[in-house]
Amino acid sequence: MSNSYSGSLVAVRDVDSLRRRVQAWRREGRSVALVPTMGALHKGHLTLMDRAQKMADRVIATIFVNPKQFGVGEDFNSYPRPEHQDFELLNTAGVHLLFAPDVAVMYPQGFSTAVSVAGLSDVLDGAHRPGHFNGVATIVSKLLLQTLPDIALFGEKDYQQLAIIKRLVVDLNIPVDIIGVPTVRDTDGLALSSRNAYLTPEERAKAPALHRAITAAAATITAKGDIASAVSKARDEILKAGFANVDYVEARHAETLQPLQAGEPGRILAAAQLGRARLIDNVAV
Ligand code: PAF
Repeated sequence: MSNSYSGSLVAVRDVDSLRRRVQAWRREGRSVALVPTMGALHKGHLTLMDRAQKMADRVIATIFVNPKQFGVGEDFNSYPRPEHQDFELLNTAGVHLLFAPDVAVMYPQGFSTAVSVAGLSDVLDGAHRPGHFNGVATIVSKLLLQTLPDIALFGEKDYQQLAIIKRLVVDLNIPVDIIGVPTVRDTDGLALSSRNAYLTPEERAKAPALHRAITAAAATITAKGDIASAVSKARDEILKAGFANVDYVEARHAETLQPLQAGEPGRILAAAQLGRARLIDNVAV
């Protein structure tokens, strides 16, 4: 990665350079927003950058494909890394600083600490991806402590991740406001995700069934309150659409992620496999 692009985006790869930039902005009285990503940026990420720019004077994006949040047999090695394209997108979006560390910067020799948010991390995706949320909680804690931003923004598409991050900043007294930003969707409802790139054209045509099924379930629960049958119908619909398997479709309390009881604020969350892509999505009830 170089800084030879036309815009004013600066890229740094080490923590000292990141901190020096933030400290200079602090001396000027600027507020700072952080948008952590794993790169392979799409419109969903750019919406986060846009929102960050409206809420703070300076925006820092991070790109780090975090090995600790990938399980054995998952796609760490093949995860898309279009570094130059990402740089151009951030530059055009007016982001001020890109922090793109190497693995050795984030996890140097001897690294031994993990952040684990009990309960919230054990259900849903946590039950299907053991250790995933410990990896997320650890890297997000590090990024927040390295940067010390005023706000940090995350997409609601990773709803469980967002709930875990909100919990950890409270529990660890990290002085930052966590902002959840609504999911950005294609016109047919498919939630934008870097992993959508894995879909073949045939799979891409089937993929919106996931959002359709959970939206219908949410409407049924709102109208009739029958949680179990709405969720079971959604699972059937997803399989009927051609998904290989459904990891879960669940109605959960919007904050605690405990099983939803009638009348509570809720969320329907789902994960299902379609070809090479494991798609996740969620909607409000
Ligand atoms: O949502 C993501 O892209 C990642 O889980 C995050 C928050 C950047 C941590 O690696």
